[in-house]
Amino acid sequence: MTRDEIFSRLWESYTQQNPSALKIYQSFTQMGEKVLNDHIAFRTFNDSRMDISVIEKPFLEAGYVEKGQYIFEEKKLTAKHYEVPGQPEEPKVFISQLILEDFSKELQNLIAEHINKVDSIFYKDNDLIFKDTVWGIPSFETYKKLREESEYAAWLYVYGFRANHFTVSINSLRKLNTIEKVNQHLKDQGFKLNDAGGEIKGTREELLQQSSIMAEKISVAFKEGIFEIPACYYEFAIRYPDADGILYNGFIAKSADKIFESTNFYNK
Ligand code: NI
Repeated sequence: MTRDEIFSRLWESYTQQNPSALKIYQSFTQMGEKVLNDHIAFRTFNDSRMDISVIEKPFLEAGYVEKGQYIFEEKKLTAKHYEVPGQPEEPKVFISQLILEDFSKELQNLIAEHINKVDSIFYKDNDLIFKDTVWGIPSFETYKKLREESEYAAWLYVYGFRANHFTVSINSLRKLNTIEKVNQHLKDQGFKLNDAGGEIKGTREELLQQSSIMAEKISVAFKEGIFEIPACYYEFAIRYPDADGILYNGFIAKSADKIFESTNFYNK
């Protein structure tokens, strides 16, 4: 698969499920902006059938190389990011995984039960990153139970393998060329910003500033009926050059830590 194929398939399913992302994207293009994607992110479990080394495969085959590693102790996650060498305009890829053994036996058993429902050959499919919900119709009881320990686990249980978010590169925008202007633009349209740790994550000195809207709530069919829960979100990032004039391409763990909370359950 080429990078274009991967990203257009992911974008199609992401915007279909999260119409607000498409609405925001169009609000930029209608202003004459050309929107580039800074990065996408994936979530997975550290089970060897689907861990980072599995999810990264199609990206490595499409020319990506690993560029950074991250640890999120409180959320019990590790992550890696990937870039296409010599192609700074290509979106970066961020893949995180939940460290299952750091959670209760109850959570581990619930997850194992679902992972084991599917034959392991299924996880070897090259199309795994497009599979979405792989474990059948979820149970709302299980979703709630997982949320008590990890919002991330609960999200992954329901949504499976798909882009968790796309990210508008503010560097590519001409009019809305600061993160403050972008945030105001979003609020003017009635979107709820993730304000965990402040609306803007990171500082100019750290060379990366990010913000995000809270994930859109969508109706999901559970075994117990239809419930509205957060799906995916849209992120906005601006990168600054370092002392040598090179645009920073990494991620800031303490900012990403708060961005993860964009899919936390919330009351409207
Ligand atoms: Ni992100």
